[in-house]
Amino acid sequence: MSIINKNILLGVTGGIAAYKTPDLERKLTSQGANVRVVLTSSAKEFVSPLALQAVSGNPVSDDLLDRDAEAAMGHIELAKWADILLIAPATANFLAKLSHGLADDLLSTLCLATAAPIFVAPAMNQQMWHAAATQKNLVILQKRNIKLLGPASGEQACGDVGLGRMLEPQDIVALLNQGLPEPLLAGKTVMITAGPTREALDPVRYITNHSSGKMGYAIAQAAQNMGAKVILVSGPTHLMAPVNVTTIQVTSAAQMHQHVMEQVKHCDVFVACAAVADYRPMQSNSQKIKKNEQELTLTFIKNPDILSDVAHLPQPPFTLGFAAETQNVREYALSKLYAKKLNMIAANDVSDSSIGFNSENNALSVFWPQGEQILAMADKQQLALQLMQLVAEQLKS
Ligand code: C5P
Repeated sequence: MSIINKNILLGVTGGIAAYKTPDLERKLTSQGANVRVVLTSSAKEFVSPLALQAVSGNPVSDDLLDRDAEAAMGHIELAKWADILLIAPATANFLAKLSHGLADDLLSTLCLATAAPIFVAPAMNQQMWHAAATQKNLVILQKRNIKLLGPASGEQACGDVGLGRMLEPQDIVALLNQGLPEPLLAGKTVMITAGPTREALDPVRYITNHSSGKMGYAIAQAAQNMGAKVILVSGPTHLMAPVNVTTIQVTSAAQMHQHVMEQVKHCDVFVACAAVADYRPMQSNSQKIKKNEQELTLTFIKNPDILSDVAHLPQPPFTLGFAAETQNVREYALSKLYAKKLNMIAANDVSDSSIGFNSENNALSVFWPQGEQILAMADKQQLALQLMQLVAEQLKS
């Protein structure tokens, strides 16, 4: 879908990110969209209606009960005019109103009165984003096919760091241009492993690694957005379970292996994104290890390779593995592709600390037997979508 010649109704609600909306409006119009803006009353505290009017040359609407505006283009007419309704920024309050079908101002009324697809670019404090009420509202909105654009993660106006920043205007326009992710995985079941594993040394200690689980969770959400039924088997992380995804929480590699092997037979695609511990202590002490000796020697034994076991099933699903490398990325990735009998491998160079483990961004070199593609640095959500598009293409061929 492209926004050229599309009528876009841009709804602006009252968050600090509203100051970016003249730029967003400019980017939409410069790509050929016809834009009309509707502001909520609190949005006017953050951005001037005059600035928004000047950019598109169209009058800005803000009042449901304005006789003059209704005479020019009534709210039902405006709702019918729109090909796309884009709400940016969408505050937590507005998302709550939208999820409950309130219609107490012009913008919320338009949301009920339009048949156009609705996109929301949330913007709020990270704690408000994670609040159970907000997350529940998001589930309701997504079930109603309202599309979420973002939010991004990073430093916030209030000084907090985390999820909740509005996507940058160019990213919103890019996502609108891509349109809704095509339902390329409709009818498919995708299983994903994510996060680290914890290997117990005794009842109070364990060994683990720095994996945050962000890439795996982003893949789960991308696959779900592309129409797949998704099962996420996750090690311990601090992340919220993705919406409309069956999430199974595990702790150790052995548990992850068991859950995967039990359910993967019914899956079309298996993505191994977890940083599974290669070894576990030979024996996990049932009592806390005492510091009686000057030296402590522990013996480790190898964990099962979950990905390899799945790929070696008699009728394996399409398998995608990850390779985190610090050098010779291509060579090591290709050898892993063939050694583990995979359909595809996504490699990243973890010697670059701006990407990979724990970071918001990543860059991947993807290899499969007949080809390869570099996915340039992007946030993990965008990258996950591109990666799953590659999977869908290969699955088809
Ligand atoms: O061999 P290596 O650990 O580098 O392979 C990485 C890939 O294998 C990743 O996709 C990872 O999720 C998967 N893996 C696994 N089970 C293990 C070790 C790695 O599924 N025990």
